[in-house]
Amino acid sequence: MSVRTVKKIKSYDRVIDCMPDKSISIRAVLFNAIADGTAVIENLLQSDDVKSALGCAESLGAHVEFIGGKVIITGARPAGSRLDCGNSGTTARLLTGLLAGYDGTFRISGDDSLRSRPMRRVIDPIVSMGGKIVCDVADGRLPLSVIGAPESLRGIDYEMPIASAQVKSAILLAGLNADGETTVRERVISRDHTENMLAAMGADIMRGDGYTTVRRSALCAKDMIVTGDISSAAYPMCLALMTGGRCTVKNVGINKTRTGILDVLNDMGANIVYDNLRGGAEPSADITVSGGSRLKPFEIDGDIIPRLIDEIPALCALACFVEGDSVVRGASELRVKETDRIASTADALGALGANVETASDGLTVHGGKKLSFGVVDPRLDHRIAMIGAIAGAAGDGANILDAECAAVSYPNFFGEVIDV
Ligand code: S3P
Repeated sequence: MSVRTVKKIKSYDRVIDCMPDKSISIRAVLFNAIADGTAVIENLLQSDDVKSALGCAESLGAHVEFIGGKVIITGARPAGSRLDCGNSGTTARLLTGLLAGYDGTFRISGDDSLRSRPMRRVIDPIVSMGGKIVCDVADGRLPLSVIGAPESLRGIDYEMPIASAQVKSAILLAGLNADGETTVRERVISRDHTENMLAAMGADIMRGDGYTTVRRSALCAKDMIVTGDISSAAYPMCLALMTGGRCTVKNVGINKTRTGILDVLNDMGANIVYDNLRGGAEPSADITVSGGSRLKPFEIDGDIIPRLIDEIPALCALACFVEGDSVVRGASELRVKETDRIASTADALGALGANVETASDGLTVHGGKKLSFGVVDPRLDHRIAMIGAIAGAAGDGANILDAECAAVSYPNFFGEVIDV
């Protein structure tokens, strides 16, 4: 087990280029892997999860080449293969839907964490479309085999029981090879990168208020420039606020299905300045945050949760430095992320002396207590390693075990966000 020591810092003041978006990068790889033609992807995230997606693309027959910082993908018609998704839930779930309509048997697996995560949420709707999926074990987890059934796949009208972009995407992707219309309805809106990309790649897709419909269609390769990942920007932004400093993150994706954290920081009283706004389906901006000294605690619940689900651990780290009780509710989905992030967030911050209480669907941070040096075991969860590091840096230092797991989404976090 490796250990990385994070030193206490005074006031954080930094300008950072945002890490490319993980969700968009994985979709750019997987969709172009099965598309007609060749696409040039610029600013693709080079993290472990995206490497897993690229490995799966190659296993499916796509040709992948790296030229001068760009990734060139030539699509192929998938034929049966073994697919190792590593730690990436997005890769595993999207592939399960995507491959349901291709000939061949596709065996999908991943690392220990991924093999413990629920797949039933994807399997059930795909099976009700006529897809054939066989799990090695009865409890609906990986490994599983998608036994492609192009002739029996038919559209469905599906009301999402949970807010999950991975499930929504899997169903829409299966719908590209299904007879008739496939409609997914969402009461609470989750990230819409799949819908944006499918539209850009020529799919027959229609979006209305709370629903998306696709019809059988082939995808055309599409050149793309990936915008920055607000989930990665969350760490330096929160660290700046924790230390009363400031931070500019350049080229942050501000798709409104992802910007819940900015709404919360704004409500807490942070100064947020937007520069260089760039529009389009995936808009972006340079974002400067400051004003940590006068922050108020937050209460989050309800429809905002999917818009900041991956940033809740970072917000809880920030809450440790804000006088008063910050409360997260309605976030039981955190229990089935790379770790149980309600437990792992509380344990990581608790190891540094924070006062954090857990509930079945959230956490309460009793903020304002001085943090002390401690050892954080992130349980190989990238986001927990990074919140341990920012809380340690703003507190009294920390030792982070297996800190290299940050590379799942943020390969040079140590060095760029936290000095080493
Ligand atoms: C993701 C969707 C979210 C998010 C995950 C990435 C995606 O998961 O937590 O990190 O790329 O679609 P769920 O779909 O399980 O909510």
